[in-house]
Amino acid sequence: MCGIVGYTGSDTAKDILLTGLKRLEYRGYDSAGVALENRDAGTGAARLDVVRRVGKVDGLKSELAGRDDAATCGIGHTRWATHGQPSVANAHPHVSCDGRIAVVHNGIIENFAELREELEGRGHQFRSDTDTEVIAHLVEEAYAAAEGERDIVDALREACTHIVGAYGVAAVCADEPGVIAVARKDSPIVIGRGERGSYVASDVIALIDATRDVVVLEDGQFARLAPEGITYTDEQGRAIEPTVTHVDWDVDMAEKGGYPDFMLKEICEQPRVVRDTLVGRMSATGELDIDELGLSFEELNLIDRVYVIACGTSYHAGLVAKNLIEGWARIPCEVEAASEFRYRNPIITPSTLVVAVSQSGETADTLAAIRDARIKGAKVFGITNVVGSPVARESDGVIYTKANKEIAVASTKSFIGQIVSLTLLALLLAQVKGKITVRQARMLFHELGDTAEQIQWILDTQADAVREAAEACVPAQSALFVGRGMGAAISYEGALKLKEVSYLHAEAYAAGEMKHGPIALIDPGFPVIAVATKSPTYDKVVSNLKECEARGAKIIALATEGDEDIKQIADYVIYVPRVRDAFSAITASVPLQLLAREVAIMRGCDVDQPRNLAKSVTVE
Ligand code: M6R
Repeated sequence: MCGIVGYTGSDTAKDILLTGLKRLEYRGYDSAGVALENRDAGTGAARLDVVRRVGKVDGLKSELAGRDDAATCGIGHTRWATHGQPSVANAHPHVSCDGRIAVVHNGIIENFAELREELEGRGHQFRSDTDTEVIAHLVEEAYAAAEGERDIVDALREACTHIVGAYGVAAVCADEPGVIAVARKDSPIVIGRGERGSYVASDVIALIDATRDVVVLEDGQFARLAPEGITYTDEQGRAIEPTVTHVDWDVDMAEKGGYPDFMLKEICEQPRVVRDTLVGRMSATGELDIDELGLSFEELNLIDRVYVIACGTSYHAGLVAKNLIEGWARIPCEVEAASEFRYRNPIITPSTLVVAVSQSGETADTLAAIRDARIKGAKVFGITNVVGSPVARESDGVIYTKANKEIAVASTKSFIGQIVSLTLLALLLAQVKGKITVRQARMLFHELGDTAEQIQWILDTQADAVREAAEACVPAQSALFVGRGMGAAISYEGALKLKEVSYLHAEAYAAGEMKHGPIALIDPGFPVIAVATKSPTYDKVVSNLKECEARGAKIIALATEGDEDIKQIADYVIYVPRVRDAFSAITASVPLQLLAREVAIMRGCDVDQPRNLAKSVTVE
């Protein structure tokens, strides 16, 4: 989720690009850069000046402040690392070998490793670890190979035929001053025409100072921006007439993509998170591809105990992972709050794997636990959302969740990314241990991918059911979340989410534990939120709910689509699609996130910045 801007017109490009980048900075800011079209003072020849800095846009601004740059055309980017550490070399724009073509890109190029190998084989020299750089070299080749008049938009079009994955791209070429070529597939691009030029960005927020009439580029469409106007073409190069949309959002709404808050925006991004986290993870022969495995298969095969250490929501992702690691790989797995782990004396041997889960990658307790585990001789594997974060750096191996920057304090999309990543790790361990075949791994991998559509179905169809259930919770003093197996793991997260954003007290229990104490809490109208989806323990959960019903509880059931029987005991039913039990945590957590948010809003709470909390907890 990086940010792209581009401008060509009669004003100073660097000012417009910096303003646009600043507006996009909330999306990620580990580095920023621009490519500006200038002329050589002596020869008058056109050239591209690329300036990149690690850190926020202000750093880039300071660097550019000292330059007398009058360029009127350029492109810029603010990066949230997905491939390669945050560094100057990995910052965008990326340039062709001859430095005459520069590109900025959002998205993920799935086949970048193959493309890079091919391009290097043909003599291209790469200067970064990014997937994006292949685009600069592909465009360079296509531009050089063009018969007749060269055209940067045609070269970009040709380059795109080789790319598998998602991209929003803007490219400039020193040989075509004033022109910006733009392409889009599965990554947003908006284009606008103002009084003083033509603009492109990955998000409307970067354009709204210049124009409110924008074209949202569609997949497979290309654009040529020039100071005097914009033309649009399709994949074959045929002219097309785009649809112009009038935007009347203010800056705040634009940042949230039209959603009322970041929490809802991020909940709705979860289908993409599932897809992105899985991109390029499985080879045609069924091997799983982990970002930085750091451990040989021989070392993995020796693992005889796993600890998942994490805090808060990340800890709950660990509870889900325990079921998968023990169920599939048959390795004993314990899940521990990092803050406890570091002060215990856990049994650690060289064949212990510690899996540290952290969205931010900088939670103090988790980091301290990693250091402690390493001193004691464990191998450490990190699951984090932040490339190059301390958790990533201090672990032997890493899987990056591809949630992109999460802004709401309450974790939602990063939780889904964590579960998907932990599922990959469990599959890998099971494969290495010989507990599942390549065929089974492939089948499970594809079913895991299907959860993206299943989440979308929940988002599209269950909003009303969630709202009705939320109304029932609002007057309560407290709520109980119950489930068994995966349902129990998800209940803990449901209760945390509700507490965190709505300030309503909530607890979670394994449903079978109710009769050992918590059932005493239940009096008429007490909300019990049950994960009662079809699973091996479905009947048991239903029995536990009957006990609650008999005591007057108001029952909100999360049930499997088509389960009409549940209505006999539940006052409210929210449906999720039928999925394999192993993947049920992914789908079941979505309605619980929506429910927490809805209750919070009804109770007048700020869902993005709940009181007393911080997004990143870097103190003990
Ligand atoms: O960045 P981390 O995943 O290490 O953060 C851990 C917790 O602080 C975090 O999950 C917290 O519980 C969230 N606010 C939950 O929504």
